[in-house]
Amino acid sequence: MSHFLDINTTDPAALRAMIDQARAMKDARRGQPKGASDADQPLAGRMVALIFEKPSTRTRVSFDVGARQLGGQTMVLSGSDMQLGHGETIADTARVLSRYVDLIMIRTFEEATLLEMAEYASVPVINGLTNRTHPCQIMADVLTYEEHRGPIRGRKVVWTGDGNNVCASFIHAAGQFGFDFTFTGPPTLDPEPGFMEEARQKGVTAVIERDPAKAVDGADLVVTDTWVSMHDPQSARERRHNQLRPYQVNEALMARAKPDALFMHCLPAHRDDEATSAVMDGPNSVIFDEAENRLHAQKAIMRWCLGI
Ligand code: CP
Repeated sequence: MSHFLDINTTDPAALRAMIDQARAMKDARRGQPKGASDADQPLAGRMVALIFEKPSTRTRVSFDVGARQLGGQTMVLSGSDMQLGHGETIADTARVLSRYVDLIMIRTFEEATLLEMAEYASVPVINGLTNRTHPCQIMADVLTYEEHRGPIRGRKVVWTGDGNNVCASFIHAAGQFGFDFTFTGPPTLDPEPGFMEEARQKGVTAVIERDPAKAVDGADLVVTDTWVSMHDPQSARERRHNQLRPYQVNEALMARAKPDALFMHCLPAHRDDEATSAVMDGPNSVIFDEAENRLHAQKAIMRWCLGI
């Protein structure tokens, strides 16, 4: 049994195997209805709990559909409707759930909640997003890049905007998959310095460039995310918008990247804030492939967690 808690704490060979398996599973079911079962049913007889303490569209639906395609059953649980939201400890919740289900996916606020769930659960736990990281999203993004452009190793990835939880997992992926990473954004929204240093120690370039046009020069992939994350106070909205407006991904900024550079956004997006609709709907955008690939990547993650 293996927990999938973060990309930087998962063996690179295992990450590579998951991406390759995700791609093979995607290829194998091309043309099938979404509700059709996969030929292999490794989750048959297994129950998956999907716990959400924050809103979700992609994570909720892709895990639910993915588990069913693999033959499993699912239950979607809202944290606020559980005793978890009314004072029962994470440790007790983890031990109880482990008596009912074979796998737990949790989307929560504090990373400490995820880690405590993993410590006390006797079944695998998957990180479906915390305030600090979002590893499932970046597994889907690596799959998406490689489907379109081949190996991501050695490529230049530029993150523009807020150095948030999705950015953090991209930095983790840089070290594990071997691509160079540039962050461009205001100093107050820098990613954790430790994450950048960890990537550098794994042999890749991880740098900050304050000028977005210089940052994007020669990029193979340009990525951004919403300017105000789910855990940020809404009172920060106006200040964030003023700070981040220069880092908007628009056609002029994309023109600085390589002509075949891809554009990614994990969604949900605030169109014409962090990225213009012209870019989001343009020829370099793969945002809906990213959303689809959550399904395929997470099926591989669930299989790896269960060793099946
Ligand atoms: N990208 C992502 O995690 O989407 P949801 O918040 O809709 O799950």
